[in-house]
Amino acid sequence: MCGIVGYVGPKNAVPVLLEGLARLEYRGYDSAGVAVLNGRGVEARKLAGRVQGLRELLGRSPVHGRCGIGHTRWATHGAPNDRNAHPHLDCTGTLALVHNGIIENADVLRARLAQQGHRFATETDTETLAHLIEDSAGATLEERVIAALGHVEGTYGVAVIAETEPGKIVVARRGSPVLLGVGDGEYLVASDASAVLAHTRSVVYLNDGDVAVVTPAGYRVLDRDAHEQDRAVDDIEWDLEALALGGYAHFMLKEICEQSETVRSTLRGRLLFTEGTARLNGLNLTSAQCARIRRIVVLACGTSWHAGLVGRHVIEELAGIPVSVEYASEFRYRRQLRVPGTLTIAISQSGETADTLEALRAAKAAGSTVLGLVNVVGSTIAREADGGVYLHAGPEIGVASTKAFTSQLVALVLLGLYLGRQRGLPVEQGRHLVEQLAGLPDLVARTLELEREVAQLAERYADATNALYLGRGVNFPVALEGALKLKEISYIHAEGYPAAEMKHGPIALIDANMPVVFLAPKDEVYTKVVSNMQEVRARGGRIIAVTSEGNGDLRHLVDHQLCVPASAPLLSPLLTVIPLQLLAYHIAVRRGCDVDRPRNLAKSVTVE
Ligand code: AGP
Repeated sequence: MCGIVGYVGPKNAVPVLLEGLARLEYRGYDSAGVAVLNGRGVEARKLAGRVQGLRELLGRSPVHGRCGIGHTRWATHGAPNDRNAHPHLDCTGTLALVHNGIIENADVLRARLAQQGHRFATETDTETLAHLIEDSAGATLEERVIAALGHVEGTYGVAVIAETEPGKIVVARRGSPVLLGVGDGEYLVASDASAVLAHTRSVVYLNDGDVAVVTPAGYRVLDRDAHEQDRAVDDIEWDLEALALGGYAHFMLKEICEQSETVRSTLRGRLLFTEGTARLNGLNLTSAQCARIRRIVVLACGTSWHAGLVGRHVIEELAGIPVSVEYASEFRYRRQLRVPGTLTIAISQSGETADTLEALRAAKAAGSTVLGLVNVVGSTIAREADGGVYLHAGPEIGVASTKAFTSQLVALVLLGLYLGRQRGLPVEQGRHLVEQLAGLPDLVARTLELEREVAQLAERYADATNALYLGRGVNFPVALEGALKLKEISYIHAEGYPAAEMKHGPIALIDANMPVVFLAPKDEVYTKVVSNMQEVRARGGRIIAVTSEGNGDLRHLVDHQLCVPASAPLLSPLLTVIPLQLLAYHIAVRRGCDVDRPRNLAKSVTVE
């Protein structure tokens, strides 16, 4: 999705902006641009394509200035071309802005502004805001920005500069994140902490509705009525190393291979061996509140939704609470039922997914207590939830989520264990699970040793045009996740299905060209899954089976068997998903796909 960066201070802003934009590349984008103030007015350079292209353009046609804004665009309104790239200027060319989000009433505003004589240079919704500010009254830029935003419906993170007030950036947010980077005599603005980390670890996360004014002398945060607000300065927990490839060919591979450590990090300090439970201080739930929970609703999208489906099994099993797992984008537009005793859990790696955030707000408005299972510290979902569990998986750069998924599963098991122990799960069972959780990082490390075998398999299947992923019980969501990983980065069509559902339709697709990936670890449905394999075999399908140690040799039945270490059945998704992540990765690499920047996708989906 779009990214924003801005700089004001003693240095030339352009290298700072380019560096910040490069850090935002992982979010997915199709064009890039910068604008600076240099005493001769606003100078902008922008183009469709990569930040490297912008760097080259600035090499040929340089601009300098100590105050500037930059943007990576992910097209919504108007094609991804040079013209539609941000920054956008007003009619006078003295004001420039960059914008993340969507101005929903852009058509109405554009028609009105055009009638008043404004000339539009682009097809974007964003440009309307530049003209609105141009028209707005106010003694200062911030007053004009506040007045203009009063006409806007939709979402925005916005950064504005104007020739009339050199050395000032005005930013505002509603539904799209913006933070301030607080340096020594210099200040940055950005949509994502990674864009400021090379310059400062101190950040101020803005709240929805905030407007901030940033100059070399400092910053002020205002509300919609221009009243000054206090906002805490936070520290970014991780460092630049976490944003580097560290010798790996791709961030996705690095993040897959990190999972033993990231799982350990999610568990750190949270296992109580004697009590047989989890320490989750951030939940902010009293024992009485835990006892009153009658149902849990999980809200999430994509991979996080798959984690939620695993979480349903885990929580129902350990805590005996009924769980429903909702697509956040669907839930938010349904009638909100006020069911007493509902606990809502929003799961999101980024903590900024627009659908999940709005669904969380809808659940809150309907009276539910809301928890967030979030990776990005300080993100909007983390701040708007009543409590929650941070994943502590470190920054996930690869667009295809991998380490966040396994950390989400760990956090859900911890939550299930905690709720279970609050609601009568015997201490012995709790202790047993705690022991098994403590052993998980080593099992993950052993599972990662399958990489070479999986890479060889990828060679055989790289030309596939379709693939089916089948699993049952707690491993059905892993089938969905394996299929999602493959289609996201290799563009091979793939479907995940409950293995037993295959005979109700997808079985028609089975032939010698259809790879079928089975999840078959040792659990109570193992023999059923083997029967499903027989059905595929009988129709000539090619089978890859992910089994676990102790399942025996299936090679008489399947084409390839990948064996993960044995584990408690509830924990098996944490291991079975790893060969599927590796398979998707190696197939995509073999097909020459841009693994970390898959087409059309964005890391954090901040539009509806
Ligand atoms: C995962 O590989 C995806 N890129 C995507 O489905 C993602 O999980 C989804 O957009 C939700 O993101 P979130 O966890 O940041 O809310």
